[in-house]
Amino acid sequence: MGMRILGWGTALPDKVVTNADLEKTLDTSDEWIIERSGIRERRIGDSTTDLAVGAGRAAIEQAGVDPASIGLMILATTTPDQQVPATSAQVHHELGLSGGAFDLNAACSGFVYALVTANAMLSTGPNRILVVGAETLSRITDWTDRNTAVLFGDGGGALVVESVPDEGQLLAWDLGLDAEARHILQADHGGYIKMDGREVFKRAVRVMVDSAKRTLEQAKVRPDEVKLLVPHQANIRIIQAACDRLGIDREKAALVMHRTGNTSSASIPLALVDAIEQGRLEDGDLVLLAGFGAGMTWGSALIRWQA
Ligand code: ACO
Repeated sequence: MGMRILGWGTALPDKVVTNADLEKTLDTSDEWIIERSGIRERRIGDSTTDLAVGAGRAAIEQAGVDPASIGLMILATTTPDQQVPATSAQVHHELGLSGGAFDLNAACSGFVYALVTANAMLSTGPNRILVVGAETLSRITDWTDRNTAVLFGDGGGALVVESVPDEGQLLAWDLGLDAEARHILQADHGGYIKMDGREVFKRAVRVMVDSAKRTLEQAKVRPDEVKLLVPHQANIRIIQAACDRLGIDREKAALVMHRTGNTSSASIPLALVDAIEQGRLEDGDLVLLAGFGAGMTWGSALIRWQA
């Protein structure tokens, strides 16, 4: 048994906050933010439920399937709308899905964790699953802290996947966690994100590259055979360093961070869908997803694209 991707969709809040907007309230500059992070603007607003519903609905419509034929939803999020019940409950209800639903929190690696989980569940459970990454990081961002406020944004992305009797499109994956580094990026209940940026940067490149290598080795694929790298959209310099160390051309990286900022679990599906919509993928192309996040978690997955 394997997994096939049937549909994809995204959702972003309407409100655009540019670097120039942030210059008005923070001791920062458009130049600094672009040079150090690659981010030019981000979208702010809506609830995690709204963004998950928007992205999920777009993916279901694109797949052309009856929502009730989807027997499970996994919502990757680190910013649920409330503690109880899970945000996935309301999203499941609004989309008219059947079966169960649950939230999954693996921070910015969440979407890869959710996709790998869906892949495993397809072999024994429902034959269609909606996988969503949706976040409202703006709610846990301290807008007076220039170290973090310039980096984050809100958004959602989703895939509808179904089981197929052959190997399917998910060829290999690697998930991991180093809890020794859990202090470098965290937010308490009711608090804001606190981050040791330099430490995250250093570790992010290393764990993303190591995880991607393990996934490629598992699939017996060389880095130069990868057509598209879809990295977590945290910092352009992290992505470029990872490309260089992996031996993947920088031009092969999917990038949306310049207009979305870092949207945690939503960033990989946002970048993937953008690449699909730009016509960057043809059937048979190898796509490498690679994320890292608080925990410190990491996850990578290799997909053979089939529209
Ligand atoms: N505007 C202007 N100056 C700033 C700003 C800002 N917004 N933020 C920090 N600075 C200053 C610092 O105070 C520091 O000043 P100092 O030298 O006088 O102390 C100087 O700029 C350099 O700071 P660094 O932290 O060394 O800057 P760096 O080049 O490392 O860039 C950044 C900072 C962008 C945060 C980078 O470290 C980074 O991207 N780290 C990884 C962050 C990340 O990926 N986070 C999320 C991962 S997981 C998740 O998504 C939840």
